[in-house]
Amino acid sequence: MTIFEAIRKDHDIQRELCDKLVETSGDTKTRYSIYHKLKDELKVHADAEERYFYVPLIDHDMTQKHARHGVAEHHEMDELMEKLDDKEMSSSAWLVFAKQLREKVYHHLEDEERTIFQLAGKVLTEEQKSSLESPYRKHMTSEGVGIAGENYKNS
Ligand SMILES: [Fe+2]
Ligand SMILES: [Fe+2]
Repeated sequence: MTIFEAIRKDHDIQRELCDKLVETSGDTKTRYSIYHKLKDELKVHADAEERYFYVPLIDHDMTQKHARHGVAEHHEMDELMEKLDDKEMSSSAWLVFAKQLREKVYHHLEDEERTIFQLAGKVLTEEQKSSLESPYRKHMTSEGVGIAGENYKNS
């Protein structure tokens, strides 16, 4: 598997959790568990992706700006999650922020899959495309997230 395929599979998990989240209501167990699962997926993924995908991209002029923009978007997602953590889950504002988070995640993943993957395909060597997958996957799995993670298996 390449780093692109691994990231794309984990993105699918994130999209699915975002879709489920905005269907929840009030201060319920379901909302709580989907939100925390999504939060874990997003945080660990951003960390693994920055280390094993963005770092090599920052070395190339063609991808440097895009990688930096991606990191900035990870911070924007963190800020939205901080707002969600501060609000009562039963308040109407909570769902407003949850919908904003879903929009932000969808936009970010599309940016990565369309623009960044395409440019990364040009600057990374074939060897890197496969060798970066393993440390990325290990990082995700050790935190119990992603396609091989316990969190998802137990859901
Ligand atoms: Fe990302
Ligand atoms: Fe990503």
